[in-house]
Amino acid sequence: MIDHEIKIAFKEYHSLEELDKQDKDLCLEAVKALHQSHSPYSKFRVGAAMQLQSGKIIYGSNQENVAYPSGLCAERVALFHWGANHSDDPVITMAVTAHTHEFTITKPITPCGSCLQVLAEYEKKQGDKIKIILYCQDGPIWVTHGIESFLPFVFFEDRLALTV
Ligand code: THU
Repeated sequence: MIDHEIKIAFKEYHSLEELDKQDKDLCLEAVKALHQSHSPYSKFRVGAAMQLQSGKIIYGSNQENVAYPSGLCAERVALFHWGANHSDDPVITMAVTAHTHEFTITKPITPCGSCLQVLAEYEKKQGDKIKIILYCQDGPIWVTHGIESFLPFVFFEDRLALTV
């Protein structure tokens, strides 16, 4: 028997002022994306902004539906928009933030498992990691690099291939 241990690393910042200008601006773009959230059921708005290599910024926000499972998280709205429209322009950074009038959010919102799996797919597709900034407006900011910070055992399709 062998005991293995996997460590993940992330950085924590206490204010936007500690980030470089591009990352700070992207967090503010994620806040802007909150306005397009359609979340009448949870009343929990989530906004995402993605900085592409060309400098272009694209957006996503959670889109809910009266038939609940038909809704989609902000991260996947942004990622699928990228996949459908900008996949030749690599994603460098994604900033995510959330807001609700129901309570104060004091910890960063972390992407759900389905969003992480989609993130894994597109990192693989573009051949490069994506920096993820989890911007909590009333708490710390967490910054990670790449899907493996979240899912060290993520399923990639190369596991489907026979290896010798
Ligand atoms: N949500 C996101 O958009 N992203 C996350 O990372 C977590 C959850 C959305 C889904 C749903 O519209 C609402 O937040 C409450 O779960």
